[in-house]
Amino acid sequence: MTSAKVEVQDLDLFYGDFKALKQIDFSLSRREVAALIGPSGCGKSTFIRTLNRMNDLIPSCRITGKVLLDGEDIYGRLDVTELRTRVGMVFQKPNPFNMSIFDNVAYGRKMQGVRNRRKLEELVEMSLAKAALWDEVKDRLKMPALSLSGGQQQRLCIARSISMEPEIILMDEPTSALDPIATGKIEELMGELKKDYSIIIVTHAMHQAARVSDRTAFFLLGEIVEYGDTKALFTNPRDKRTEDYISGRFG
Ligand SMILES: Nc1ncnc2c1ncn2[C@@H]1O[C@H](COP(=O)(O)OP(=O)(O)O)[C@@H](O)[C@H]1O
Ligand SMILES: [Mg+2]
Repeated sequence: MTSAKVEVQDLDLFYGDFKALKQIDFSLSRREVAALIGPSGCGKSTFIRTLNRMNDLIPSCRITGKVLLDGEDIYGRLDVTELRTRVGMVFQKPNPFNMSIFDNVAYGRKMQGVRNRRKLEELVEMSLAKAALWDEVKDRLKMPALSLSGGQQQRLCIARSISMEPEIILMDEPTSALDPIATGKIEELMGELKKDYSIIIVTHAMHQAARVSDRTAFFLLGEIVEYGDTKALFTNPRDKRTEDYISGRFG
């Protein structure tokens, strides 16, 4: 039995004949933040997509090995819709729906059949507050989400994810399209969110990994070269390739 929130065992992933992930082992506990770093094309996005089965949408994609959520194999009998509720995802480019701020956050629960206005209002306020956006938008919840700034849109997408009360939030380079101030807000938010959720964030900004995460995995050519305590990995890497990468010698 495992006590990890998510545990990946000996995972290989193929796109057709191309092996994009090789023998991945990974685990993360409740209320921890993991950062995934590594040069582009090394499999970071591919890896986080395996954690909520987004790769199912790619016909050529095939995996072997195990991905366990609370000890249960997500490629087994677990319902995919339930899985995506439990494992939320925030993308690189903010992708709010073309509807009001309120409706963006209420959407998922409405789809599940929640109709009670009061309940939805509470849900929207709670989610926006947790995403550190409530104060900025509480007086204009009916405005189109697309009228918000990029940084606000990304926090809205985080609120939308939170509204489903996920257990894990996956974030694929969530700040790479944002300015430094918006980036700072999202980084700050991460510290709050981890009180409730496990977070896995892909970033190619190493200082961001160092600031926000408890554990860091260094990916290279489809493998995890090294995975461990963030401070230890950055100050005292075990592998020469990790050392070269974090000291800026390649990537
Ligand atoms: N849908 C796909 N079909 C085929 N190959 C893919 C697909 N998505 C990614 N790849 C390949 O898999 C490798 C890893 O890509 P990716 O996971 O996007 O890396 P990263 O996120 O680290 O930049 C790359 O060689 C990429 O070209
Ligand atoms: Mg990527």
